[in-house]
Amino acid sequence: MKALGEREFDHYDPEFIKDPYVVYDHLRNACPVAHTSKQGGFWILSRYADVRAALQDWQTYSSAIPGTIAIPNYHARDYPVLPIEADPPAHGKYRSLVRDVFAREAVDQLEDVVRDVADALIDRFAATGHCDLVHDYALPLVSHALARFLKLPVEDAERWVYWAREIFEGRMGDDPARTSGATEEMAAYVDGLMANRIAEPQDDVFSLLTQARVDGAALSPLELRGYGILLLTAGREATVDGINNALWFLAEHAAERDWLAQRLDDGAALRAAVEEFLRNMSPIQLLGRITTRDTTLHGVTIPKGESLGVLYGAANRDEAEFPQAASCVLDRRRNPHLAFGVGVHTCLGAHLARLDLRVAIKQLLRRIPDFSLAAEPLWASNGDTRGFRRLDIRFVASSRPESGDNDMESPA
Ligand code: HEM
Repeated sequence: MKALGEREFDHYDPEFIKDPYVVYDHLRNACPVAHTSKQGGFWILSRYADVRAALQDWQTYSSAIPGTIAIPNYHARDYPVLPIEADPPAHGKYRSLVRDVFAREAVDQLEDVVRDVADALIDRFAATGHCDLVHDYALPLVSHALARFLKLPVEDAERWVYWAREIFEGRMGDDPARTSGATEEMAAYVDGLMANRIAEPQDDVFSLLTQARVDGAALSPLELRGYGILLLTAGREATVDGINNALWFLAEHAAERDWLAQRLDDGAALRAAVEEFLRNMSPIQLLGRITTRDTTLHGVTIPKGESLGVLYGAANRDEAEFPQAASCVLDRRRNPHLAFGVGVHTCLGAHLARLDLRVAIKQLLRRIPDFSLAAEPLWASNGDTRGFRRLDIRFVASSRPESGDNDMESPA
């Protein structure tokens, strides 16, 4: 498949990253079952109906081989990251272990903490008139909130951010030593955490996993490692990207920014806007599956054992499902987007992600209702996610009138 002109679909191509939507339009219209030889070679689904159906058909499109989810997989592991790299029925047994921890009522108790962290971060830059939303706001906010949610020391978040960067930049720079070094450090950190909880159980999700039984057996050390790694890494970058994508849009669209700034206390309006940001600028654009049998779609047969890329980002921009799909319609009413997936692997952390987005947008708009881009933003350099590596804004400097002691533990 040549997506456009002589170029094949390549989510690492800077041209694609700058504007993937023109490629998505082409795929949906002309090539709903595509194949590219780039990044190890894989098939691509882009229409909403096909993506939705594939995500629900785990019998044909499996997640159960370690490394299948990322395309390409540079660092194959011999253990699965759980529960995402498992298929039913095993998947459900692993997922149900932590379901209560991620329930909406449990997550919403964190709202005051997230709001205080957001305010403390804004205090640090409000008087300067400028900031980089990635490093001064979204990244420390999400890391801090996740640490509090997982009941881990906030200082540890600095290491998670470092590992994520090493793994990612090692991959991008084709430096496997950097990637595998950071992966090993992260595995050692999780192993230590689990060993500590086995020796001294606490009231936290890691102790819950060390005490859990699946079919009567405790989780093996590698299962505990895989689960722990996913909890630390699964949605952190995606949530940071989700916040920044929304704030980038608001920086660029004054009318929508004013509209939302006037509705910050209208919970329903804010929630609808968050869903629309997630649909229109989905933080996760592409994830992988592996076919378990030959399957024919739109007259094209995808053979058994092939890698398949599922384009959440293209599905969420499909006009057949979303009128005005390219526009960010903040009060869109019907919005069955796939930003958190669908089917058995639907995002476990969706409530936490939504809370982070809601609070981050609300507190920033409340304190800084008028802001604009201060420089050309730096997009993330991998098209399977959509987000920024740097996002500078400027605004009228202000100090917090009622500001008193607002110390926070040092976030990442
Ligand atoms: C805006 C932020 C987020 C987005 C866009 C997002 C997106 C997704 C998507 C698309 C999936 C499905 C993957 C698949 O079908 O293979 C998923 C799964 C998952 N997410 Fe998220 N996520 C976000 C935040 C989070 C957070 C904050 C956490 C936890 C702290 C989290 C934990 C998980 C887990 C554990 C799974 C695997 C669920 C399973 O396999 O049953 N996510 N996420």
